[in-house]
Amino acid sequence: MIKPVLHMGNPRLLRIAEPVTSFGTQDLAMLLQDMRDTMAHQDGAGIAAPQIGVNARVVIFGGQPSPRYPEAPNIPDTVLINPTLTPLSTEEEDGWEGCLSVPGLRGMVPRWKRLHYSGYTQDGIFFEREVDGFHARVVQHEVDHLDGILYPRRIRDLTRFGFIDALFDDNPPSND
Ligand code: NI
Repeated sequence: MIKPVLHMGNPRLLRIAEPVTSFGTQDLAMLLQDMRDTMAHQDGAGIAAPQIGVNARVVIFGGQPSPRYPEAPNIPDTVLINPTLTPLSTEEEDGWEGCLSVPGLRGMVPRWKRLHYSGYTQDGIFFEREVDGFHARVVQHEVDHLDGILYPRRIRDLTRFGFIDALFDDNPPSND
């Protein structure tokens, strides 16, 4: 079911989300379906449970090139629960980000360029990946939501934060 997305300023987005303790449940399946429906409806690259008001350490993300975003890189559709992130070097990379909780805006955000992440699937299966670039950025953005952090707090140069229609003439970068 498509759920309303909480917007920046809502204190529920600032909470530290709780770890999931029961896997493979009906409740978890329903939460994930709501997240998928809401992300698809909003055309996002990822969404975290707190954005639809559920205070659990659950994120989903993924994306393939589309007519709207032909340059979008391939990220496998992923359910990531109780995640752990570890940067693989101190190297950072700047990139534009947007967020379903901060509609209409984009900001230039530094993120770790390469990282290892791990967590659990819907059924409680542990998995881990080493990723870089846009995939690494999306994971960092989504996992930040679980710690109550929205991307504007990561921006170092606030002159590179603004409304999409003012920042870009034609194609806005895709990274909701
Ligand atoms: Ni977001």
